[in-house]
Amino acid sequence: MEPVVEILPVFEDNYSFVLTRPGQDRAIVVDPGDGEKVWAFLEAKGYRLEAVLATHHHFDHVAGIEYLCDRTPVDVLCYKGDMHRVPGANRGLGDEEEIELGGLCFRVLHVPGHTSGHAVYVCGNALLAGDTLFLGGCGRLFEGTPEQMFSSLYDKILTLPEETRVFAAHEYTVRNRSFCLSIDAENVLLREKLEESKRLCEKGLPTVPASLKTEKGTNIFLRCSEPEVIRAVQAREPDTSEDPVSVFAALRAMRDTY
Ligand SMILES: [Fe+2]
Repeated sequence: MEPVVEILPVFEDNYSFVLTRPGQDRAIVVDPGDGEKVWAFLEAKGYRLEAVLATHHHFDHVAGIEYLCDRTPVDVLCYKGDMHRVPGANRGLGDEEEIELGGLCFRVLHVPGHTSGHAVYVCGNALLAGDTLFLGGCGRLFEGTPEQMFSSLYDKILTLPEETRVFAAHEYTVRNRSFCLSIDAENVLLREKLEESKRLCEKGLPTVPASLKTEKGTNIFLRCSEPEVIRAVQAREPDTSEDPVSVFAALRAMRDTY
C-alpha cells in the first residue's frame, strides 16, 4: 500500500511528514519539530493522529511531540536505543522491524552515523530519511564514524529499490548539489538537477522527494566507488586512498567546511 505523504515545512529548513492511507483519516506524523503547526495541519485536513515516528532525538525533529501528546493520546515510536532521549517515546523499535500504523506498513532501518540511534522508515516506496540521507548530501557525523555512516548508506539504504522516493528532513538540496558539482564537475544529470532544485526553491516549493535512482546518479556521497569521484577527491586531498570509505570520509570533511 502506497501512502499519501504530505510535506510540512517547519522552522527555517526542516520538513515534517504526514502519512495517511489513501482515502483514510488516520495520520502518522514523522519528526514533528513544531507541534502547533502539525496540529493545525491535522485539524485542517480532518485527520486523526494515530502515531508519531521520530527518526532521531535532535530538537528540530522532536520538539513538537509533547504538544501533540497533550492534545490526543498517541503512540510515540523511535529506535529502541533512543527512547530515553525522544520526548514521550513509549515504543522502541528494532532494526528491520516491521510495524503497522494507521493501516500502513513501516519497515524500520537502524542507520547509525548522524546519531547513534537514528532510524529511517520505509513505507511503500517512501523512505523517511531523517538526517541520514539528504538530496545531494548526507547528515553530519555527530555520533558516528565514517564507517558507520557509509555502512548505513551503502549496506542499508542503497539496497532499497531505485524507485524509492527519498523524503529528506531538511531543505538543503541546492547547497548540497552545488557542493557535489564543485567536485563531480562533469556530471550532466547533477547539473540538471541542481538547476531544477534552484527553480523549485525560487518558487518556495520543496525539492523533496527525489528518487533513489536520481540520488545514485547525483549525490556524491553515494558515488564514492565511481572512478571519476575517487580521482576528483584525490586531486583535492592527495592522502585519500581509493577505498570508498576513505573517499566518503574525505567528502564529509570537505562538506563540513563548504
Ligand atoms: Fe539531526
